[in-house]
Amino acid sequence: MLAEQETLRRPTTGIIEELGDVTPAVLRAMAGADNARLRTVAAAFVRHMHAFAREVELTEAEYDVGIDFLNRIGQATHDSHNEGILFADAIGFSTLVCLLNSGNAGATETASALLGPFWRANSPPTANGASIVRSPTPGPELFVTCDFVDTAGRPIADVAVDVWQSSPVGLYENQDETQAEMNLRGKFTTDSAGRISFRSVKPAGYPVPTDGPVGEMLRAQSRHPYRPAHIHFLGFKKRFKTLITQVFVDDDEHLESDVVFGVTRALIGDYRRHDGGTPPAGGVTAPWYTLNHRFVMEAGDAVLPVPPIK
Ligand SMILES: [Fe+2]
Repeated sequence: MLAEQETLRRPTTGIIEELGDVTPAVLRAMAGADNARLRTVAAAFVRHMHAFAREVELTEAEYDVGIDFLNRIGQATHDSHNEGILFADAIGFSTLVCLLNSGNAGATETASALLGPFWRANSPPTANGASIVRSPTPGPELFVTCDFVDTAGRPIADVAVDVWQSSPVGLYENQDETQAEMNLRGKFTTDSAGRISFRSVKPAGYPVPTDGPVGEMLRAQSRHPYRPAHIHFLGFKKRFKTLITQVFVDDDEHLESDVVFGVTRALIGDYRRHDGGTPPAGGVTAPWYTLNHRFVMEAGDAVLPVPPIK
């Protein structure tokens, strides 16, 4: 409100007489947008950008660094890598936006988490109980069972659930020539009990790509680049807010220092190690792991995100 009053108080010539004229002049220039939401978002963006420059007394050399950083984020982005999302993730912006839009605007616990840069559309449809290991992938075997319920605890049948994860060496198939196309990815459908199940291998934590501007930022800030191991899930069904989430491996050394700030208490999984007993399938050698997890889907719009990569 204050900023709008400020705008009205200023002369309307558009000629900048002094430093204090710049922000109102820009806000005035943008005020004619037909789209009301665009007017709100663009005006707030400009007010905060200008306030940021004032607060840090931004130098011209720092301005040049910032513009170069922004340009290189774009140049580093291509069909199989999304540096823009990585940057938003690494400054906690993705998690902030996720929580603002989930769990009653952050007031209550949510099963949601950031999408990350590795979701691909068109994962292979896979039957419940089947494996998402599509080429030899050494590592401890993992048996996953997930229940999808509404906020009243009732099971939700026919949720289309995308699953994707890194291998036991910490690479997604699109980053690793030794893995088959769509290895460790699959699309499941919840049964009448709201359940999916599949067989996989235990994922490993991994460093986010550090060969671009985001890597430079992490090094300059003395931050490690690691994410704790996790499996990604995307649940889609009409009349429910699309559930985008990750379930983290509870014994990972980076659980409390995820480089992209994705770990919430609700998403620490119970990856249970089994050293003996009867394995869930033939040919399985100890140790193997099981993960049982329950997701609550909120009512809302079923909208798919834009895939970060092809
Ligand atoms: Fe991931």
